Amino acid sequence: MTKSPCRSTVLCAIFAAILNGQFVLAQDTNKLKIGFSIEDTKGERWQTDLNSFEMRAKQLGVEVISRDAGGDADRQFQQVKDMIKAGIKVLVLMPRDTTKASRMVDAAKSANIQVISYDRLVMNSDVDLYVSFDRVEIGRMQAEYLAKHAPRGNYVLIAGSPRDEGAKALHDAQMSVLQPYIDRGDIKVIADAYTKDWLPSEAYLFMLKAIDSTHGQIAAVVASNDGLAGGAIQALREHNLAGKVAVSGQDADLAAVICIAQGVQSMTVYKPIVNEAARAAEEAVRLAKGEKAHADGTISNGWIKVPTIMLKPVAVTKDNIKTTVVKDGFQTLKSINQALPADQQIK
Ligand code: BGC
Repeated sequence: MTKSPCRSTVLCAIFAAILNGQFVLAQDTNKLKIGFSIEDTKGERWQTDLNSFEMRAKQLGVEVISRDAGGDADRQFQQVKDMIKAGIKVLVLMPRDTTKASRMVDAAKSANIQVISYDRLVMNSDVDLYVSFDRVEIGRMQAEYLAKHAPRGNYVLIAGSPRDEGAKALHDAQMSVLQPYIDRGDIKVIADAYTKDWLPSEAYLFMLKAIDSTHGQIAAVVASNDGLAGGAIQALREHNLAGKVAVSGQDADLAAVICIAQGVQSMTVYKPIVNEAARAAEEAVRLAKGEKAHADGTISNGWIKVPTIMLKPVAVTKDNIKTTVVKDGFQTLKSINQALPADQQIK
C-alpha cells in the first residue's frame, strides 16, 4: 500500500480537493463571464466570428459562454435567459431579428447586464455598444463599383433579410449612389427585393424571374452579400450570362473570391471579421470591469443614440485579392487556386 501524504484531516481534505479539481473550479468561478449569443453559425463567416471572439476573450482571461440558436429566435431568447442565470456580466448579441431582439436586451438589462450589439443593431433597445462595419460605406462601395463599370442598363437589386436592419441600411446606401443615374434615365431598376433570411436560393429564384422578364437584358446585379451573389450567378450561368453581367457581393467568402478570379463576380466587400470579434471581446471585458467602452461615434436605434464602433470595409476585385484577403490569411491562395483551371489561377 502506498503511504498516504495525509498527516492531518485538514491536509487530507486539501489533498482530496486538489485531486477532485475543486481548486481549479473555485478559480474558474472567479473569472468574469461573458455571453456570446449568435442566431446561427450557418453561412461561411459566422463560425469565424465565434472562434475569433472566443480566442480573444480567452487571451484576456475571461470565460465565454457561447450559444448558437440555429436560426430560431425563440431558442435564442431562451439561451440568453440561461446565460443570464449562469452569471454573465456582459452579453454580446448577434440577433436573428433586429426588431424583436429588444426582449433579450430587456431581460439582460433587468439583471444589470450590459449588452453589446454584434454586427447587427438591436433596434429600440438600451444596448450599450454596437460593434460592426460601416454599412453605409459597404452599400456605397457595391453600387459605386457597379455604376462605374456598368453605367447604363437594367439593374437588379437583391437585398438581405427584411428582419435585419443592416440589410435596409445597405439598400438605402446603394440607392443613394444609383439615384442620379436613375434620374438621368441611364439606369433602370427592373427588380428590387429583400430576401428571406439572406437565402441564396431566394436570390436564385428572383434572378431567374428577372432574366425571364427582360429576356436576359441585365447590366448589373446589386447583390448585398456573397451568398446572394452566388444564387444570382447560378441563374446567370444557366442562361450563359455569367461574366456578362456585373455582380457585387459582401463578405469575401471563398466561393465568391473564386467567382471573382473566374470573372463571373465583379467585386466583394471584405470585412476583417477577426478584428470585429476581437474588438467586441475587448470592449466586453472593459464593460465587465466597470470601465467605459471606447466607442468612436453613435448611431440611432430608434430609441437611443448607441455608442458605436464602425470598422472599415475593403473593396476586393480581381486585382487586389492577393494584397487583401490572402495577405490577411482570410483566404488562402491554395484554396482559391485549387478550384480554378491553370489559366485563371492567381499568381
Ligand atoms: C452581415 C453580413 C452577412 C449577413 C448574412 C449580415 O448581418 O453583416 O456580413 O452576410 O448578415 O449572414
